[in-house]
Amino acid sequence: MSPNPDQPEPSREADRLCVIKFGGSVLTGLADYSEAASETYRHIRSGEKVIVIASALQGETDALYEESELVGAGASPVARARLVRLGEFRSAALMGLALDRIGVRVIVVDPGEIGLFAEGDPLDAGLCGLDVESLRKKIECADAIVVPGFTASHHESGAAVLGRGGADLTAVMLAAKIGIRRARLIKNVDGVYTCNPAKNPAAVRFDRLDYTAATAASEGLIQDKAIHMAEAAGVQLEIAAMGAVQASCIMPGPAITGALRNNQRKRIALLGCGAVGSGVLDHVVRRPDLFDLNPVLVRDPGARSSDARAAFTSDAAIALSDRLDLLVEMMGGADEPAVLMAEALSAGVDVVTANKAAVARHFDALKDAAVRGGARLAYSAAVGGGAPMIETVRRLRTPGVAGLEGVMNGTANFILSKLGEGRAFADALAEAQELGFAEADPRADVEGHDAADKLSILIREAFDISLPPEHIAKQSLAEITPEMCAAAAAHGKVYKQIARARRTSGNAVDAAVTIEPVCLSHPFAGARNEQNRALITDINGRIHAVFGKGAGRWPTAAAVFADIMDMQRSPACDNPVPDIQMPDRSAPGPTCLQPA
Ligand code: NDP
Ligand code: HSE
Repeated sequence: MSPNPDQPEPSREADRLCVIKFGGSVLTGLADYSEAASETYRHIRSGEKVIVIASALQGETDALYEESELVGAGASPVARARLVRLGEFRSAALMGLALDRIGVRVIVVDPGEIGLFAEGDPLDAGLCGLDVESLRKKIECADAIVVPGFTASHHESGAAVLGRGGADLTAVMLAAKIGIRRARLIKNVDGVYTCNPAKNPAAVRFDRLDYTAATAASEGLIQDKAIHMAEAAGVQLEIAAMGAVQASCIMPGPAITGALRNNQRKRIALLGCGAVGSGVLDHVVRRPDLFDLNPVLVRDPGARSSDARAAFTSDAAIALSDRLDLLVEMMGGADEPAVLMAEALSAGVDVVTANKAAVARHFDALKDAAVRGGARLAYSAAVGGGAPMIETVRRLRTPGVAGLEGVMNGTANFILSKLGEGRAFADALAEAQELGFAEADPRADVEGHDAADKLSILIREAFDISLPPEHIAKQSLAEITPEMCAAAAAHGKVYKQIARARRTSGNAVDAAVTIEPVCLSHPFAGARNEQNRALITDINGRIHAVFGKGAGRWPTAAAVFADIMDMQRSPACDNPVPDIQMPDRSAPGPTCLQPA
């Protein structure tokens, strides 16, 4: 979509923000918050901060209107507004929980906290004010802000709701006030049609239409007040399904109709169903419209008899049978999975993996196989888990990366956090294993091999230099005692495992994994437990921070599933995220290797 020439260029800050509204039609039950969180994460990993507008769960607002009738027939509109708005408050809180679970820095706000005010009929109010500064301050220290849609404070009555479909209006208002040119409204349709496609099979889908045409075609799909405000404020509306690339774009200009593209189902093989794989399986089985799933490869299928989500096998040939489109490797180990991935890639099957050991050690073989087979390899989760480190480094290739450092191993950070609380090393490690953070052989975490694998991958991404992990010096966590942590704390410091690389002259790089005390004011000091953090310095001296949870089922599964959805959405060699309208800055390349 081309930008609207009638609108001024947005500010740099606004460029990095987007507004996404999740409608009640896509929030049909608690499980849908996980998908909404994934959709939000997709934008965050592409470099945007997201303002999420939450509608109530499907049917909840109707039920609240009914309750207001039953309990208070004839009650004042204010009293009714106070009840019917509750669905959005609950939904915003649930969205916050789902985002927090995958490690997104999220703040949930009530309308009053951002000065969101309405005027007029408390049951069908119009929005009239927003405290932009207070919203901006919150955005500065989070990657997602969740706002309940449909409701606002009211100068006279205290509380108001914005009429049916009012969360659309909230989305448009926030976009307009903060200077963002577009708002994405996620609904259970893949766009706006000439008329309701459920009632009329001859309905034709729009790729693009103007505000007047949208008002005529919408039939309640989009709130009229929201369309009018969008037109007045020059906000472009995107109507899209959850996880979809394409949207119907409501903006000035001639209407363009078009069927959906790239909507084929993919046959997918999952190798491994442990801490990470089980979370990924959850995501995949929720999208039977997109994926046909082969039996999942595990060592012990007998232990899975009560898991009804999928069939399980210990036979790799069965797991990889049929004409596969996508292989997702989450087994662990280095050599065996690398062989399976290379075979798949050279046969033209796209591969997603969370396996840093395999990628770090066998990158060249995997790359050759991908080139031979014309397939893609994606490995976002291999570094940083749900902290999008690879994506950030890729975006910074232009202008260029001077150096990078980070807390890159969740288990090591968890153990150091617990040592700082006076816990014994063995207890802390056992808990990290229990929580699914540690590698199958936890010496990889403790002795710094896992962090070195990740650093080796980032060095390749940042500098295009091959530095095998075995050539990176590492310090073992076993050298650190609770007494050393207590002594550091007495001096206002905390121990961290830090992986660091700096480009030196020519094609050389200095790299090491160290354990060192940092001041409490240092950005790494705030990374607690399994959290990861990275600071990437570009060649202009600007420092870019990356936050997230580096280990655990849900953050890692979110990153793996984001790669899967990128592959699902785009045919080979396409930009996997063409709908994310990044402004004119370095394109957010997928976290994947494409054939040359
Ligand atoms: P788990 O040990 O929890 O799970 C491994 C899964 O793979 C199990 O289902 C296991 O089967 C199966 N498996 C292992 N080896 C074989 C084999 N030879 N044949 C068949 N099945 C096999 O590992 P994680 O989920 O923790 O990690 C998976 C990968 O993700 C690793 O590469 C890890 O480094 C990476 N990763 C992990 C993160 C985390 O937080 N845990 C974060 C980021 C990346 P069975 O269940 O029968 O034993
Ligand atoms: N064992 C790894 C860690 C898993 O603790 O960071 C995530 O890569």
